[in-house]
Amino acid sequence: MSILPIYLFGNDVLKTPAKKVEKLFQEDLILIKNMFETMKNSNGIGLAANQIGVLKQILVIDISEMEDGKKTKPFVVINPVIKKEIGKWQIEEGCLSIPGIRADVERAEKISLKYLDEKFIVHHKTFSGLMARVLLHEIDHLNGILFIEKISSKKRKEFKNELMEIKVGNIRPNYAIVIAENLKE
Ligand code: NI
Repeated sequence: MSILPIYLFGNDVLKTPAKKVEKLFQEDLILIKNMFETMKNSNGIGLAANQIGVLKQILVIDISEMEDGKKTKPFVVINPVIKKEIGKWQIEEGCLSIPGIRADVERAEKISLKYLDEKFIVHHKTFSGLMARVLLHEIDHLNGILFIEKISSKKRKEFKNELMEIKVGNIRPNYAIVIAENLKE
């Protein structure tokens, strides 16, 4: 297994919608294993394939270390389709691709989701609370959307300098990263 570098804010791959997975190949199973390893290494609770530079609709989740997720197991979600969103709540979010920035984001409290697992078996499940939150954040990634696009423009302006610092590569988290292509020397 290998730890993959995480693409930071400023990379186009984070703004590009990922493609549906039509068939799972051995390389995809290796990719999924590496995504779990990469997420663990960076202490993340969710990771979308866009964040490691792959435009496939694959995300991994592990909230077992969180107070609200102690009984949950890590799992992979392929080709997610949100069937229903219920309620609204605000909670602070962060993102491995936007290190150091955290902000309150409003999202649905409960969701019904159709997705495939790593054996390509279809699931229809309902998720709520933190699990729904992480899923919605990661599904946004697969659609090329970052959480900072979901906050008020006033709030986003407050992060302008920090976002620029990430973009130009002045922010170095304690995990492997890829800074924006056009800004590399
Ligand atoms: Ni994120």
